[in-house]
Amino acid sequence: MSTDHSRHTEMVREQFRIQSSRFEQSIGGQGNRAIGPWIIDTLGLNGSETVLDVATGTGLLARDLSPYVSHVTGIDVTPEMLAQARQIAADSGFTNLTFDEGDATSLPYPDDSFDLVISRIAIHHFEDPEVELGEMRRVCKPNGRVSIVDITASDDPAIADTHNRLERLRDPSHTTAFCLTDLSALAQRSGLRVVTASENKAVRDLDEWMDVTATDDDVRVTIHHAFEEEIAGGEPTGMLAHREDGRLKFVHHWAVLVCELSPN
Ligand SMILES: C[S@@+](CC[C@H](N)C(=O)[O-])C[C@H]1O[C@@H](n2cnc3c(N)ncnc32)[C@H](O)[C@@H]1O
Repeated sequence: MSTDHSRHTEMVREQFRIQSSRFEQSIGGQGNRAIGPWIIDTLGLNGSETVLDVATGTGLLARDLSPYVSHVTGIDVTPEMLAQARQIAADSGFTNLTFDEGDATSLPYPDDSFDLVISRIAIHHFEDPEVELGEMRRVCKPNGRVSIVDITASDDPAIADTHNRLERLRDPSHTTAFCLTDLSALAQRSGLRVVTASENKAVRDLDEWMDVTATDDDVRVTIHHAFEEEIAGGEPTGMLAHREDGRLKFVHHWAVLVCELSPN
């Protein structure tokens, strides 16, 4: 593991240690409630699949998938997120979920192990996502599928830069959220053939979003300022800043890519 990668991994672990106790409430909360069922619909599952959920976090997607597949293995690099995943799954009586600690740059599974390999809202935390996607492809069975689920940025590079800058201010472990075209190109470069691409939106509350990361007050002021500027007709944040009932809100765009493996 290179020194740069170790440093980034430590930043991810520190961020998600902070987020671990609040993460479920945020990602499973009001704004995102429709996202889980929508993802399941896009996957066209037949009930027999063995699934690997890469960067599973607290296991929310693993639990959403559980009734529709044979077994889900979740893997994550942050022990505190995994502790939540194991506790919630046990308390809720799930019997077809297991959770492993590990790094997605080097998955501890043999080639051709799973029918479906999926990763949700984690690509934008990877330093060089081609590495992780290459690993996801490696552990997927030759006739299986790899699914990439992530938030996306604008097709306009300047607006996407602003969006990514604001995301990084809130969470320094954020690397890059791609536009749909670039996400599809990334999949292709990683040996995947995109079969379907679906898009959706979720409205989020700005202050609740920053509560999850325990964002410092000075950073909150900067992000609030960017939102107010956009609402007043200034530079777009790329997050469609607006007010609802007096509160600052924004839109996260989501994409699900379902891919087959390209021939080697
Ligand atoms: C935003 S959370 C998403 C959690 C989950 N996929 C979900 O959708 O609820 C991102 C997760 O990615 C994990 N992560 C980031 N980089 C990772 C890596 N290289 N290997 C494994 N997990 C990683 C973090 O620890 C964190 O739990």
